Amino acid sequence: MSAKQIVLAARPKGMPDESAFRTEIVEVKAPEQGEVRIKGLYYSVDPYMRGRMSDAKSYAAPYEVGKPIVGGIVAEVLESKAEGIKAGDLVTGRVPWATEVTVPASELSKIDANLAPPSHYLGILGMPGLTAYFGLMDIGKPKAGETVLVSGAAGAVGVVVGQLAKQQGCRVVGIAGSDEKVDLLKHEFGFDEAINYKTTPDMTAAIAVACPDGVDVYYDNVGGEITDAAIMNLNFHARIALCGQIAQYNVTEVPMGPRLFPRLLTRKVLLKGFIVSDYLDRVQEGFAALAKGVKEGKLKYRETVVEGFDNLPKAFLSLFSGENKGKMIVKA
Ligand SMILES: NC(=O)c1ccc[n+]([C@@H]2O[C@H](COP(=O)([O-])OP(=O)(O)OC[C@H]3O[C@@H](n4cnc5c(N)ncnc54)[C@H](OP(=O)(O)O)[C@@H]3O)[C@@H](O)[C@H]2O)c1
Repeated sequence: MSAKQIVLAARPKGMPDESAFRTEIVEVKAPEQGEVRIKGLYYSVDPYMRGRMSDAKSYAAPYEVGKPIVGGIVAEVLESKAEGIKAGDLVTGRVPWATEVTVPASELSKIDANLAPPSHYLGILGMPGLTAYFGLMDIGKPKAGETVLVSGAAGAVGVVVGQLAKQQGCRVVGIAGSDEKVDLLKHEFGFDEAINYKTTPDMTAAIAVACPDGVDVYYDNVGGEITDAAIMNLNFHARIALCGQIAQYNVTEVPMGPRLFPRLLTRKVLLKGFIVSDYLDRVQEGFAALAKGVKEGKLKYRETVVEGFDNLPKAFLSLFSGENKGKMIVKA
């Protein structure tokens, strides 16, 4: 049995291109005790993977050059030598980017396709959904009547943050990179207001207009100048859930921004960086809340689906030009 796999060909500097990836044909080994052979149905591309392409020390180990990229997957079990999993089961986990692969069953969990379309386990019912839930609820701690501002608002994490904040009775304002996304946030996801940062010359002023009572919770997915502008609008005792800094993932030299820490000090702001894996012991709680919202139709979700395993690198790279609305998924 042979399969295609995609490996890291070279560590990119700055914005990567497709030369950072290489496709190889490999033999798929038969499963041994405790292992399963799976076929990929849906693959997740996520901004954090850019960090793993670099060898800088971080919370996750770097990908190795010449070795497969590892990412989120929804797969069908083809052959099983593991207890509790049989051929035909649908599973999710983090495994090498390959059309077929044999992995320990302990790295996978079964999914319930009756609850939601299987690909949702890579988005709202997976890592991005849990990130939204814990960052907002545990760090943002939004209260009814407060204003929640979300950057990267039209992406996998952002659309969930906005809807959860609305459920808490907040005014919710999103920041995103196109008029189409602004429209989507306001009319599909129920945001009270949204700002296109690509066509807005003065973001500090635009946030002030969209958030007339100031910002109580800033859920930061992007960093950079957008975050500088958000900080200028924070209320006393505001909370910043520092989730992502995608505006800086490809920079080769970090630009010097305005020094805004005095503002955080004098407004007595709480700023907390977090990684979703900090909440491993509370995954059941987060999943239950998200699953309930999906089941009852109270949490909407959207995917941008790119067809074809070979297009995984292209789909990943397009996260940095904002091609996706909601979660970017690759369908095998
Ligand atoms: N802390 C954690 O555990 C954790 C977990 C998951 C994700 N994250 C982080 O959360 C953020 C969102 O992740 P996601 O999966 O939901 O991704 P996503 O928002 O679905 O996709 C990335 C989006 O970022 C925006 N973007 C790209 N380059 C940008 C730039 N230079 N400035 C401003 N916006 C830019 C684009 O939208 P526009 O069209 O709006 O520009 C793009 O669609 C990322 O920073 C990610 O690394 C953190």
